[in-house]
Amino acid sequence: MSVTVSREGSVAFVTVNNPPVNAIGRAVRAGLMDALDAVENAVGLSLVVLSGAGRCFAAGADAKEFDAPLQGPHLPDIIARIETCDVPWVAAVTGAALGGGCELALGCRYRIASPSAQIGLPEVTLGVIPGAGGTQRLPRLVGIKTALELIATGKAVSAGRAEEIGLIDSVADDPVEGASRLDIEMVERGRSIASLPQPAANAKAVEAARALIRKKMPHQIAPERAIDLIEKSAHVSLSEGLAAERAAFLELREASQSSALRHVFFSERAARMPEPLRGQDAALEVITVAGGGTMGAGIAYALLNKGSEVTLLEADMDGVEKANANVEKIIAASVKRGLIDEGAAEACCQRLMVTTDYSAASQSTLAIEAAFESLAVKQSIFADLEMHLPKSAVLATNTSYLDVDALAAGVSDPSRVIGLHFFAPAHIMKLLEIVRGENTSDAALATGFALAKRLGKIPVVSGVCDGFIGNRILARYREAADTLLMEGATPWEIDAAMTGFGYVMGPYEAQDLSGLDIAHANRRRQDAERDPERRYISIADRMVALGRLGRKTGVGWYRYPDSGGKVEDPIVAELAVEAARLAKVERKEYPADEIRERLLMAMINEAADILGEGIARQASDIDLVTIHGYGFPRWRGGLLHYADRIGVDSVLNSLMRFETEDRVAWRPGQVIVDCIGRGIALSEWRAAPFLK
Ligand code: COA
Repeated sequence: MSVTVSREGSVAFVTVNNPPVNAIGRAVRAGLMDALDAVENAVGLSLVVLSGAGRCFAAGADAKEFDAPLQGPHLPDIIARIETCDVPWVAAVTGAALGGGCELALGCRYRIASPSAQIGLPEVTLGVIPGAGGTQRLPRLVGIKTALELIATGKAVSAGRAEEIGLIDSVADDPVEGASRLDIEMVERGRSIASLPQPAANAKAVEAARALIRKKMPHQIAPERAIDLIEKSAHVSLSEGLAAERAAFLELREASQSSALRHVFFSERAARMPEPLRGQDAALEVITVAGGGTMGAGIAYALLNKGSEVTLLEADMDGVEKANANVEKIIAASVKRGLIDEGAAEACCQRLMVTTDYSAASQSTLAIEAAFESLAVKQSIFADLEMHLPKSAVLATNTSYLDVDALAAGVSDPSRVIGLHFFAPAHIMKLLEIVRGENTSDAALATGFALAKRLGKIPVVSGVCDGFIGNRILARYREAADTLLMEGATPWEIDAAMTGFGYVMGPYEAQDLSGLDIAHANRRRQDAERDPERRYISIADRMVALGRLGRKTGVGWYRYPDSGGKVEDPIVAELAVEAARLAKVERKEYPADEIRERLLMAMINEAADILGEGIARQASDIDLVTIHGYGFPRWRGGLLHYADRIGVDSVLNSLMRFETEDRVAWRPGQVIVDCIGRGIALSEWRAAPFLK
């Protein structure tokens, strides 16, 4: 039973029971309607206590149902009946009351929550707006300004804050028990939100919310619509406001942004420990990190912050000093930003030991090497780690490009070796590529997933190849951009085309931020194995030769004056003209649409090869990599979700058009051709099972 009804004296208890989070699907809605019938037909009831079984009150509408046609009974009708019921309803909230869960509570006469409850209307994060009264009842209860704060960005609030703003009436350790002991007369006297006066208009707050949304959630439709509706609540009757809200909700539910955001929400959850690995335990209390540079220090801090003891190994005392300083800097910055308090900072310092002595790592169950990007250096560290760590310990490398199998070959038991590719800054970026080598054991892989869970990161498994999933796609993105640069576009036109698509930064601004020298060193490493048929564009090499390494040198693709900001630099165009002259290419203008098409198609084509080679196990993993590691707009659902939306046949058409210019760079991937042949989307394409 999704909803149960019981009775003690004059109090009825209606309990939503739909594990794990009491999502309000059709069965729950039908159960609530039955409960309303039961309550209305009962004699001698004075109070109804509505609660959720398990860890949530209710996590909102069942978002899995959004792909199917609407099915009654509908939540707005249920809430209207609760609101007008002769017997007053009290919401007893434990855990999350989100979306429709919060709206159910708003239909009740009184709200009481446990101290750890989280209450909010996060619909905009799934591309929709509250569709069962949230945008109209909440402003009536807490005012326009506070309603905007909650609904426009979708941030939930704690029980304490909810009480402060008047969203709930009281806090109790056991809200169900607390609700049943409420003074019934007081609850009866309490008015339903529907009978509260209209909220006062607040044009200033509305304008501020719009400005915030344009900055924080640009391109997204739902937050703007939510603001419109909240503003409207001050000017129209409740019934008119509810009708407008419902119409907007139904429209957005069908729109591509909501479909994309739901896809990402469920992909993130599906990416966690894969089914065959579940139940494998991994102890992560004591961990070694080898190398305390920017990356190693970030990884060490991420681990310390989650309670692990960390031995940070360095090659010499100078390295120890620098590593200590690097970690301390991150801890201090976290305190300054209010992410941790002084006590937590002190505890982090106590759990850290920085040393040159590898024997200090003897208790570690996992070692993560984060040293200089050189196979020889990493092999030597692995040899030392192997000597000092328990034989069962997992040995991980944080390489971004190097061959994990070559590294594993130097270890007597290569099954213990995995890649753990963190993204800088390692304590902030959400993505963790877990690289599965030829011989990596399931236990080692499970350790990677367990680590991701502990650190709150999104894990994606990648096979071994140059650059793994993310950097391999990035290389094609940059190649396509450099080709356009040579053929006539400017870096700023290319950057603007991609920010227009939804990236926060275009490829050239991003390179300036990370430094042109890193990609340059990588290109030199690839020189020996580069396909001689493939056109090589050397503009970036010339930039490095001129000392234009990006922000750190004050000049890169752009100039960064001391006074701040960035300015376009004509010298870059001169380098591009020179490259075109040498390559005998005629330069022309490229409109933004064409720039976007070329850059996206280059990435999609590479991603299809990555799928075909079994480097990624599914398209949604590539979506997560592009969103969480490379700034692909979340509301577009990730690279391959986007490809499926425009259609695989349309992707093939573009590739074939470009192939006439360069048959090596634009040859359509086999998976794209296969998908069309089989009539399936890229999201339906499956690599061979990834577990041995
Ligand atoms: N609809 C359908 N399924 C949902 C859901 C929803 N609104 N909210 C959560 N789930 C599912 C998850 O997909 C997951 O399924 P899985 O175990 O098969 O992977 C399961 O419930 C548990 O969710 P998870 O996020 O892993 O649990 P958590 O304890 O970390 O977080 C919540 C719980 C409620 C905070 C979180 O799930 C959440 O924010 N949900 C969405 C709330 C929302 O946006 N509601 C508005 C809907 S329009």
